[in-house]
Amino acid sequence: MNLFDVYPLNDIEIIKASGSTVWDANGQEYLDLYGGHAVISIGHTHPHYVKRLTDQLNKVGFYSNSVKIPLQVALAEKLGQVSGKPDYQLFLCNSGAEANENALKLASFYNGRKKVIAFKGAFHGRTSLAVSATDNPKIVAPVNQTDNIVFLPHNDVKALEQAFLEFGDQVSAVIIEGIQGVGGIQEASVAFLQKIRALCDTYNAVYIADSVQCGYGRTGLFYSHDFAGVNADVYTMAKGMGNGFPVAGISIAPKFKPWHGMLGTTFGGNHLACAAALAVLEIIEQDNLLQNAEVVGTYLIEELKKIEGINEVRGRGLMIGIDLPADKAYVKKDLLFKQHIFTGEAKPNVIRLLPALSLSKAQADQFLANFKTVLKG
Ligand SMILES: Cc1ncc(COP(=O)(O)O)c(C=O)c1O
Repeated sequence: MNLFDVYPLNDIEIIKASGSTVWDANGQEYLDLYGGHAVISIGHTHPHYVKRLTDQLNKVGFYSNSVKIPLQVALAEKLGQVSGKPDYQLFLCNSGAEANENALKLASFYNGRKKVIAFKGAFHGRTSLAVSATDNPKIVAPVNQTDNIVFLPHNDVKALEQAFLEFGDQVSAVIIEGIQGVGGIQEASVAFLQKIRALCDTYNAVYIADSVQCGYGRTGLFYSHDFAGVNADVYTMAKGMGNGFPVAGISIAPKFKPWHGMLGTTFGGNHLACAAALAVLEIIEQDNLLQNAEVVGTYLIEELKKIEGINEVRGRGLMIGIDLPADKAYVKKDLLFKQHIFTGEAKPNVIRLLPALSLSKAQADQFLANFKTVLKG
């Protein structure tokens, strides 16, 4: 049997990892500023994380949501505390797309409506409704096409107001990333997020904050949307939540009342997933990782802005986009194969930095020096 060939692969096999360092099968060391696509939040193979997962596996790895799982209650309590939203409710699932799918469904159950406002450049995942709300027709299959999604220009307050004037009483939800990741590190403006909040209040629509990539402390606040000083109704999260263990969730405002059968999952909230997620939150708290993401991220952004030959540096904390001119398209590959540094990318020519929140200043300096070398060509 062959693999279904859906990814272009780098010819590298990673066999060992620690913190922000990984090693390949030839013993070559790499600095990991990609974190397997923003997933590694507390650093690879953190000892507390390894121990908590191993201990849990030795007790019970899985049982279904037909029995009490106190680890879920502990996780909800901890997440409420660390995210600063103790009165929200937690539904656990397995991936970012699933989190958004459930959030959109919850919104529709809540207000009985069908229309969803999404934005140009958005990426919300590959399941049915999530992919329909994603601004990339290439990955939307015919069966996922729907008239229920309306795409508006990003950060355009007037267009948003106009849309609500035209069909506000049909809008179930507005879904937006605090910082667009796949879209090239494009921040939603404070004014825009505040306007979304106000219009959702006026029209009884649901404000969904897709925090799958930009959340979990990456920007220095637990949810990057919260820089706008207003609460979303639902926050979706995944990537950093389990530091590589597949776990995702939605944090739901108190006004939503559940009923049995409304949402559901087989694997979501299993013992191992909860142990992983709890370990991550414990480390985030113990090691002050939100503060570290803010300090090291701000340093990186300021230093990058001093470098000549870059179109623009965007982002917040440790979610950084380096927008390069077209003639610097070689930089990402050279960083990987000549300087042994993993980074992410966005089209057409943006280097995305999505490292662990524990990245040190020394590691940031190592990147800056190597990046300058590569940029010179
Ligand atoms: C903002 C955002 N939402 C949703 C998703 C989908 O997450 P997953 O791949 O876990 O389904 C992604 C993945 O890149 C993302 O960046």
